[in-house]
Amino acid sequence: MAEKESSPGGQKMYIPISLLWLVSIPLLSSVNSLPTPRGTLITCGASNAIASGDLRYVPDDGFTKVGNKATISAPNVMPILRNLRFFPDKSARKYCYAVPVVKGGKYLVRTSYYYGGFDGGTTPPVFDQIIDGTMWGTVNTTDDYSNGLTSYYELVIAAMGKFMSVCLARNSATVSDPFISLLEVEYLDESVYNSTDFKTYALGTVSRAIFGDTNSTISYPEDQYNRYWHPFKDENPTVESKSGVKMLSFWNMPPVRAFSSALTTSRGKNLKVKWPQGSLPESLYYISLYFQDSRTESPYSWRVFDIWVNGKKFYSNLNVTADGVSVFAAQWPLFGQTEIEMTPGDGIPVGPLINAGEVLQLLPLGGRTHTRDVMAMDDLTQTLDKLPSDWYGDPCLPKNHSWTGVTCSYGKLVRILALNFTGMGLSGSLPSSLGNLTSLTHL
Ligand SMILES: *[C@@H]1O[C@H](CO)[C@@H](O)[C@H](O)[C@H]1NC(C)=O
Ligand SMILES: *[C@@H]1O[C@H](CO)[C@@H](O)[C@H](O)[C@H]1NC(C)=O
Ligand SMILES: *[C@@H]1O[C@H](CO)[C@@H](O)[C@H](O)[C@H]1NC(C)=O
Ligand SMILES: *[C@@H]1O[C@H](CO)[C@@H](O)[C@H](O)[C@H]1NC(C)=O
Ligand SMILES: *[C@@H]1O[C@H](CO)[C@@H](O)[C@H](O)[C@H]1NC(C)=O
Ligand SMILES: *[C@@H]1O[C@H](CO)[C@@H](O)[C@H](O)[C@H]1NC(C)=O
Ligand SMILES: *[C@@H]1O[C@H](CO)[C@@H](O)[C@H](O)[C@H]1NC(C)=O
Repeated sequence: MAEKESSPGGQKMYIPISLLWLVSIPLLSSVNSLPTPRGTLITCGASNAIASGDLRYVPDDGFTKVGNKATISAPNVMPILRNLRFFPDKSARKYCYAVPVVKGGKYLVRTSYYYGGFDGGTTPPVFDQIIDGTMWGTVNTTDDYSNGLTSYYELVIAAMGKFMSVCLARNSATVSDPFISLLEVEYLDESVYNSTDFKTYALGTVSRAIFGDTNSTISYPEDQYNRYWHPFKDENPTVESKSGVKMLSFWNMPPVRAFSSALTTSRGKNLKVKWPQGSLPESLYYISLYFQDSRTESPYSWRVFDIWVNGKKFYSNLNVTADGVSVFAAQWPLFGQTEIEMTPGDGIPVGPLINAGEVLQLLPLGGRTHTRDVMAMDDLTQTLDKLPSDWYGDPCLPKNHSWTGVTCSYGKLVRILALNFTGMGLSGSLPSSLGNLTSLTHL
């Protein structure tokens, strides 16, 4: 097949140490004064801050005003997962957390769920997750819970304002109260996943894997952003790396240990890896793959191979040295089971190999309500008492999850059409900025 040399964005990324120097000069911004990982780690429903390894999780009281706290009685649960917050109010259209962020900053947002039978039941509830104005997806922890595991969902998204809202909502499958165990919002540096247009998309993590004989999941501090890299092993032979990937860095800042082992095959053979596991929904994905020649660094420790994804050329003649290299595609279509295949170049004395990879799904953003209307509603929430419990996050979005009493129009601009305070028992004054709701027809 005559494919283009490097299909969408199949570029090498590689920064010499001299550039890294520039990057590491401390910048005086509020973000940089935060402890690493720079962000907010919340253990929901807890009464006190809880340490987990080198990380400190704070209670959620300052971040939400809705829901109730509960404690799990099951034994052997990690301290940060022993508490949770659940949301019994059936009339609310969403239950929101608001986390302070730097506008325009790029964040890794992770929600974690461990049911623990907190409500006396045996099956966890199924419900939706919302981030700002975007429907993030459905939370179904049934399988993980029955296997004694915690479920997590992760997204990379740009902050649109000074707060990021992360909300839960009931859907037609929800039979008991939605709950949340952990909420983590971590600042990512400029170069991480920077081929994505974060004005249009968020990236939902599908898999982040280290290949070969690595026996434990990587997280903080090995990964400075506390991303999780899970071991993946199949029937292919594995090989340990003889040299570290010092003296260079990658745009996505993978941890050094991601290069410590690899899946490989013998000389002249193709290396096939069925990863990520399981069937993927038809969508566009961001794919990043990491390689390093496993032999001791020398003028001869390099190998060349082509990379194919589901039979389509991903990258041609990749020269993998002991320095390591990464190739990525910003928007690659996948559907069903994925197979990465590496075919060796002519006369290369060693087989292809692969050390690590990331697959993230492009999630189109749901947009946001017209800024002027959001500002007016913010003022309104300051002047009124006894607000409905769902008056957090975006007032109109996602559709069907607007604030109680707020009716919106969903044209090119998302605007507030009507406010209906009947039966809410609201008190307080109306701010002058309400005049800025220029689409308002009913009050
Ligand atoms: C949740 O997941 C379980 C296990 O995969 C499945 O049987 C069940 O139908 C799912 N529930 C909903 C509402 O999708
Ligand atoms: C991503 O970051 C790298 C390293 O800073 C830079 O060289 C590259 O041009 C950036 N790419 C985009 C699309 O901004
Ligand atoms: C895991 O791997 C490390 C280094 O690769 C090794 O020192 C350790 O003994 C291994 N642990 C287990 C349980 O295999
Ligand atoms: C691969 O890179 C190494 C080190 O830069 C170089 O010596 C070698 O000639 C390259 N091989 C090919 C086929 O380009
Ligand atoms: C909103 O709710 C209506 C009725 O419940 C449903 O038909 C529609 O699909 C929902 N829209 C979205 C975007 O979820
Ligand atoms: C306003 O809300 C009340 C209570 O939900 C409802 O009875 C009434 O019909 C609504 N009025 C308008 C104009 O939508
Ligand atoms: C109305 O919106 C404009 C533009 O966003 C803003 O400058 C002005 O202060 C707002 N008016 C009030 C009364 O808040």
